Amino acid sequence: MASIQAGQGAQVLVASNRGPVSYTVGEDGSLRARRGGGGLVSGLSAIGSDADALWVCSALSDGDREAVRRGIGEDGVRMLDIPADVHADAYNGIANSVLWFVHHMLYQTPLEPVFDAEFRRQWASYEAYNRAFAEALAQEAARGAAVVVQDYHLTLVPGLLRELRPDLRIGHFSHTPWAPPEYFRMLPDDIAGQVLRGMLGADRLGFLTRRWADAFTACCEQFADGLGRTAIGVHGLGADADFLRGRAHEADVEERIVALREEIGTAPDGTPRKAVVRVDRTELSKNIVRGLLAYRQLLDDRPEWRERVVHIAFAYPSRQDLAVYRDYTAEVQRVAEEINERYGTPGWRPVVLHVEDDFARSLAAYRLADVALVNPIRDGMNLVAKEIPILSDRGCALVLSREAGAYEELGEDAIAVNPYDVVDTARALHEGLTMRPEERTERAKRLAEAATALPPQQWFLDQLNALRDGS
Ligand code: G6P
Repeated sequence: MASIQAGQGAQVLVASNRGPVSYTVGEDGSLRARRGGGGLVSGLSAIGSDADALWVCSALSDGDREAVRRGIGEDGVRMLDIPADVHADAYNGIANSVLWFVHHMLYQTPLEPVFDAEFRRQWASYEAYNRAFAEALAQEAARGAAVVVQDYHLTLVPGLLRELRPDLRIGHFSHTPWAPPEYFRMLPDDIAGQVLRGMLGADRLGFLTRRWADAFTACCEQFADGLGRTAIGVHGLGADADFLRGRAHEADVEERIVALREEIGTAPDGTPRKAVVRVDRTELSKNIVRGLLAYRQLLDDRPEWRERVVHIAFAYPSRQDLAVYRDYTAEVQRVAEEINERYGTPGWRPVVLHVEDDFARSLAAYRLADVALVNPIRDGMNLVAKEIPILSDRGCALVLSREAGAYEELGEDAIAVNPYDVVDTARALHEGLTMRPEERTERAKRLAEAATALPPQQWFLDQLNALRDGS
């Protein structure tokens, strides 16, 4: 590959599949922009709007593609109009059905995985999609610029970009866990090697916890020639407390609190019912069904909770192009209905399940939580575990899976669970519901402190500085 000449270009570049803005086409053909949230968006705000920064991302919706065609866009954002079929193979076929499954250890033998000719065809799209990013970054970066590539969608970019632009400082950050070698080796040898070599094209690789960083290092020791010249850093992304506290007290959230209180209702003795709250994408790794089974177990084991507790479960649609996610969504709804039919009474709906994404209502649920249930079978970090203790009005107890990255930071004040053990999770829910109010408040305070230790802005700057310093 020929080197692309460095132009004036940007000094700081971020690359990710999903960008900070998306477009929809209105009925009159006009384009409407909607800004997204999340750690990366907040993090990038730290470098200021006057800085010479560029975010390279995929055009994901029809509106996005139309915006690219019409040359409409925001300053500091470049959307890549990758052909829809190539993107679908790379995103749905490889990133979300293979790499996501490997790192979250989600495959269920004997049916999965099968790496067949169809997989090879999709892999070629993943390569093309990564190459499109590498070429765009190579065109846009100033000489010696810092480039931070995000996540499992773009594992080949660091290696490809290094070939095109050896002058750049290249970083990559993984927002997911990393698979241990004995699971990672499930990938075909050549593909596993390509992923590791792609990542090792970076000067510096960032992970959310020491555990995921160590797993990556172990994979490199077993399946490559070690880490070579690549440095590894651990940066545990924290919650954006200032933003959340402000947003959670706006009028639309207050309105939803009133509505949710109505849905929760009061116990037979006239006191408000307790709320066990979870908020997730409907994502296999989030373990929503076992969470419902644990709640059912609680109602079985401890009938005294009937009529006195409600499980607020918000499970927002995710990756619905994939059949396994659609099936999982249906299963969540089926189990929730089954619990309501079996235990519900005319005045009490044991599970309040909502599936339409509504950020203001999520924040309302956070504020009302007595117990937060965060029980993923494996999770890079899990920001909900950090956000609920910050916002809960009464200081909630946190039932937290020991397999969430957040457990490394919050484990001491959370009630730990093995996410597969629904009997123990039911016990943990009971422990949370019966925790003395003073202890709950104390623990929630410490949880909130730990959760905000590394706000997104600092998280991003730390990575950037380390990448520039070569540390
Ligand atoms: C995870 C990934 C993110 C991704 C998010 C939403 O948290 O680590 O990179 O943005 O899921 O997934 P989606 O497929 O909707 O972009």
